Amino acid sequence: MLSDLKQKIYVAGHKGMVGSAILRELERKGYTNLVYRTRDELDLTNQAAVQHFFETEKPDQVYLAAAKVGGIYANNTYPADFVYDNLMVQNNVIHQAFMSGVKKLLFLGSSCIYPKLAPQPMAEDALLTGKLEPTNEPYAIAKIAGIKMCESYNRQYGELHDIDYRSVMPTNLYGLGDNYHPENSHVIPALIRRFHEAKVNRASEVIIWGTGTPRREFLYVDDLAKACVFVMGLSKTQYAQVTSPMQSHLNVGFGHDVTIAQLATAIAKVIGYTGTIKFDAAKPDGAPRKWMSSERLQQLGWSAHVDLEEGLQYAYDEFCKTRSEGTMSAR
Ligand SMILES: NC(=O)c1ccc[n+]([C@@H]2O[C@H](COP(=O)([O-])OP(=O)(O)OC[C@H]3O[C@@H](n4cnc5c(N)ncnc54)[C@H](OP(=O)(O)O)[C@@H]3O)[C@@H](O)[C@H]2O)c1
Repeated sequence: MLSDLKQKIYVAGHKGMVGSAILRELERKGYTNLVYRTRDELDLTNQAAVQHFFETEKPDQVYLAAAKVGGIYANNTYPADFVYDNLMVQNNVIHQAFMSGVKKLLFLGSSCIYPKLAPQPMAEDALLTGKLEPTNEPYAIAKIAGIKMCESYNRQYGELHDIDYRSVMPTNLYGLGDNYHPENSHVIPALIRRFHEAKVNRASEVIIWGTGTPRREFLYVDDLAKACVFVMGLSKTQYAQVTSPMQSHLNVGFGHDVTIAQLATAIAKVIGYTGTIKFDAAKPDGAPRKWMSSERLQQLGWSAHVDLEEGLQYAYDEFCKTRSEGTMSAR
């Protein structure tokens, strides 16, 4: 048995926001045998290529952070790509990992697996209790299939082949490696960009869609990466204390949420924007609240460490750095 730090670990999606944070965390903890491939080197929708990769590399563990990810516009415009790419990537990686003898795997899902009207905070047992949000239903269905695939492999092969495939569902993430595209980014990078541009252009006001009252939860991506490595390090007995064979996923949230107005004020403060923040109540608000219960993970001893203002400062520092270097992601 290899010591844990020498285990060969494959991080799928290591160029993305989550995958790169997981890689940083594994390196920080002293893992030395890490493998990864860019999409050009290994297209994870290609079954034969993925099979060849696993047969050749034979990793011991896998973090599956590769996925086709996007906002409402992309999900609405390319629903076929979202369901096909995600199902192909996860089917190929999970199945070929199993075929090549991978013992431990962590699948990354998302809070959109929960029903649109799930009680708040959303707990793990809300899964499959109601209708999904239609705009990202194909994506959510793929993610639910990924959780169920991990569970089914555990149920059928867990004891016989000593495999242990787990899933985590993060809340909204932000931080290093985020996507600052002007039309296709999540709320934090979009607001960082807008307030930064307003400051540079000395704009007297910034107008934000909606009333500012919806509540959302945000987790700094390095906290998520720590949670992922923590979950992979739990013994089977510990993991089983808060999960069951057919409800095996764990939520990873910050613990509490903020209003969009509070978020905008915090971002303006970090950036040093001193103009007026206005809300356009004629524009849609979305769900009044999206907040995850992370009680199960907390029971096992994990909690988030980076508070919102500190995380926003790190994110803004990186935004300025990548802008000045001209290396900003334009996904
Ligand atoms: N960001 C969030 O707020 C958030 C919240 C909850 C859950 N998550 C989950 O976390 C996971 C990662 O998200 P992220 O934000 O890190 O996304 P991301 O930044 O877009 O990273 C995804 C990575 O997957 C790679 N990839 C996609 N399709 C591939 C393919 N066919 N072959 C090889 N590589 C492929 C991408 O490669 P390229 O670099 O070539 O595009 C990219 O490096 C997803 O499962 C997502 O659901 C994210």
